[in-house]
Amino acid sequence: MKNYKYSEITPENIYNKRRNFIKSFGLGLGSLTLGSLSLLNNAHALKNNSKLTSYKDIITYNNYYEFGTAKDDPYKNSQEFKVKPWNISIEGEVESPMTLSADEILSLYPSEERVYRLRCVEGWSMIIPWMGFSLSKLLNRVSIKTEAKFVEFESVYDPEQMKGQRYPVLNWPYKEGLRIDEAMHPLTTVVTGLYGKTLPNQNGAPLRIFVPWKYGFKSAKAIVKIKLVKKMPTSSWMKASPREYGFYSNVNPNVNHPRWSQASERVIGGSLLSPRVETQMFNGYGDDVANLYSGMDLKKNF
Ligand code: MTE
Repeated sequence: MKNYKYSEITPENIYNKRRNFIKSFGLGLGSLTLGSLSLLNNAHALKNNSKLTSYKDIITYNNYYEFGTAKDDPYKNSQEFKVKPWNISIEGEVESPMTLSADEILSLYPSEERVYRLRCVEGWSMIIPWMGFSLSKLLNRVSIKTEAKFVEFESVYDPEQMKGQRYPVLNWPYKEGLRIDEAMHPLTTVVTGLYGKTLPNQNGAPLRIFVPWKYGFKSAKAIVKIKLVKKMPTSSWMKASPREYGFYSNVNPNVNHPRWSQASERVIGGSLLSPRVETQMFNGYGDDVANLYSGMDLKKNF
């Protein structure tokens, strides 16, 4: 048995070894801990660029304005952030509103591996082996009323612990929203971890949302409230700049951001000379989600 140097035991090393183990026993990626959905997701991620982003890049290159606006601020400033105890309320147009602790949620819904590409609106992307489960499972628990048409997500407000919230960079607390059918889509994920480990603070611990076919900012971190509502919510980014950030924010290479093209993306982890890759419609998940928008003008509903 080879002795590994400490520096060799990176989470991706361990992770890739586990994957090879699974493969070499002919179990296939779907049969052990992964559901059929994640098999599908893995196939998606592999379409354009099969290389997983390194753990180091995923945890040091972040957007999390509550901890500062530089890419390494969240890594530097979030390590002491307390994620226990943590409660999430599910309320609004539901028959049985409830508050669950993050621990309760983790034990109620086992996580599976979901390899998805994160495409940031700024024009870069990563392929991340998330851990999580479909948000629909959690939403089914509260019996949604027929009046509910949208879901609003609210991140934590805690300027004591989150320095960035002492400045009006965004309208705090961070808010995002989805249409109810988008929220109930099986690809919409409650993220509980990555690379087989618990979710690092800078990536949105203890629980964050991830919507693979939308720009990264639709995926709110450190959520404390999920509210079912009748009217389309106004997200923090829509408030900050309605001309630039619409409610839908589907990844769309044909609709440019007013200040830059969205046709291509820089894959994080490559060298400065690596060519940009073409951005795919719906971030490559069109087969699963394009039907949610049939008949809609996606230039108007950007
Ligand atoms: N959630 C909160 N609460 N605050 C934020 O600033 N940034 C968003 C999103 N969720 C953000 C957030 C943006 S712009 C992106 S691209 C992703 O988180 C980045 O996720 P990552 O840092 O895990 O890659």
